[in-house]
Amino acid sequence: MNSPEIKMSPKALDKTMHRIAPCLLLLAVALLAIGCRQDMQDQPKLEAFETSDFFRNGVSNQVPPAGTVARGLLKDDAHFWFGRTESGQLVSELPEQVSWSMELLLRGQERYDIYCAPCHDTTGAGRGMIVRRGFKQPQPLWEDRLVDMPIGYFYDVATNGFGIMPAYRIQVPEEDRWAIASYIRVLQASQGRVLEDLPAGLQQEFERGMKAQEEAKAAAAAHHDDHGAGH
Ligand code: HEC
Repeated sequence: MNSPEIKMSPKALDKTMHRIAPCLLLLAVALLAIGCRQDMQDQPKLEAFETSDFFRNGVSNQVPPAGTVARGLLKDDAHFWFGRTESGQLVSELPEQVSWSMELLLRGQERYDIYCAPCHDTTGAGRGMIVRRGFKQPQPLWEDRLVDMPIGYFYDVATNGFGIMPAYRIQVPEEDRWAIASYIRVLQASQGRVLEDLPAGLQQEFERGMKAQEEAKAAAAAHHDDHGAGH
């Protein structure tokens, strides 16, 4: 029994091959692509604490070699990291990484209002909500003893806490602790001062403002009286 042979002229065969070649190629690429499929949630990497035969301790997590310091965390600058000189004295200047600017003070105000005002209140008087609910009342941040402290002291207290006050080094990064220390200087300059402490120009401005306020009050009272007399 002879199976019927398909006869094709070489030319016709050539033509057919030309037609189906791109399809074959596409099919091959498609098959290859399926073979390479990699779900994003299943990447060839080790996850934290996954078991692994690759490492001797059998888990993915490896302890860094002794003495390893993460990039940018070498605390070799005592001024910036600890607010102290090499010999351990509190510094009276900002570190070189931080400089006085309006931006610094605004940042300090924002961070102070978040992290310190709950106890020290927004003026530094020490009547924050936690204190009003029974926590120990701190002394005003503008008392003379604290005004005389070097700026490193405020950085140090924010970093390590003081007495019953907790440390804030975990919640507040270094730059922000310096910003807060700087802002405490603003509170000290603006709160608890007597009029005579102000520069002459500001004294006069304050007096003018007070006078205008009293006049406005008197005018309002007089207006009220006029009104009352009418009835
Ligand atoms: C949970 C309440 C609380 C918070 C929040 C708090 N403090 Fe205090 N702080 C205190 C108390 C209470 C004292 C007094 C501690 C004592 O006498 O035991 C104090 C004392 C201080 C002192 C004075 C230390 C001295 O020599 O008398 C400074 C400066 C100070 N805090 C800065 C800060 C700064 C900066 C922050 C924000 C990063 C802050 N505090 C956040 C409660 C707080």
